[in-house]
Amino acid sequence: MALLTGRTAVITGSAQGIGYAIAQAFAAEGANIVIADINATAATEAAAKLGIGDRAIGVGCNVADGGDVDALVKAATNAFASLDVFVNNAGITRDATMRKMTEEMFDLVIAVHLRGSWLGTRAAANVMRDQENGGSIVNISSISGKVGLLGQTNYSAAKAGIIGLTKAAAKEVGFAGVRVNAVQPGLIRTPMTETMRSDIMEARLKEIALGRVGEPAEVAQAVLFLASDMSSYMSGAVLEVTGGRHM
Ligand code: NAI
Repeated sequence: MALLTGRTAVITGSAQGIGYAIAQAFAAEGANIVIADINATAATEAAAKLGIGDRAIGVGCNVADGGDVDALVKAATNAFASLDVFVNNAGITRDATMRKMTEEMFDLVIAVHLRGSWLGTRAAANVMRDQENGGSIVNISSISGKVGLLGQTNYSAAKAGIIGLTKAAAKEVGFAGVRVNAVQPGLIRTPMTETMRSDIMEARLKEIALGRVGEPAEVAQAVLFLASDMSSYMSGAVLEVTGGRHM
């Protein structure tokens, strides 16, 4: 049997990039998929593109808005029988050195990543703890949250905060069989990174043991592992998917 047969997975920010690759990996393993994205049209299109018919739906949702996140969870449980996997993946960057970063740039990045992951974790755990078979929540952090990256004081703070959130939540909901884990990707080829200046890209490649950029599908495999019973005795863990960078 496939790894996620009959289970329902919500992935935020999954109209494109890493989130969409996670949706593809989950769909291939038999899951019902809820593509959630701030761009509602793109979410609906991405759900159709998965090619699994009514096993996938698209929902418009701003993860920084508590009402939107609660509505997202309701949409998932209305469409499918249960909520088994929730991936907090939606993200943005507003890079600048502290001299140039405005309070708005700081607040927006914290709101989408940290507040968004907290809202998603809380809403998903509320449903999962009442189910008989628990559930799996996966939070997408970043290696930037482990080591701190220049020009990313907002993003590094948010991504480090997600690790604290993951561990605290794992302690709160473990009794109900709900697992909460995190993934820290390194440099991955997505629309978020394709505009990177070539000299910065060259410098970053030199730091990576495998000497190359990662693909979204390679992050998705680690997320699939955490989402499935293959990681049944893991909670509060952080997996680095970096090709060997900042070890
Ligand atoms: P992306 O920019 O390709 O996709 C992000 C998606 O999130 C988009 O579809 C966007 O519409 C959606 N989104 C943005 N704000 C939202 C909001 N408020 N509510 C709902 N959806 C929203 O980004 P990518 O590269 O796929 O990143 C996915 C996650 O992986 C992010 O959390 C990012 O920080 C993280 N990550 C990415 C790395 C990379 O190298 N690409 C490295 C480490 C972490």
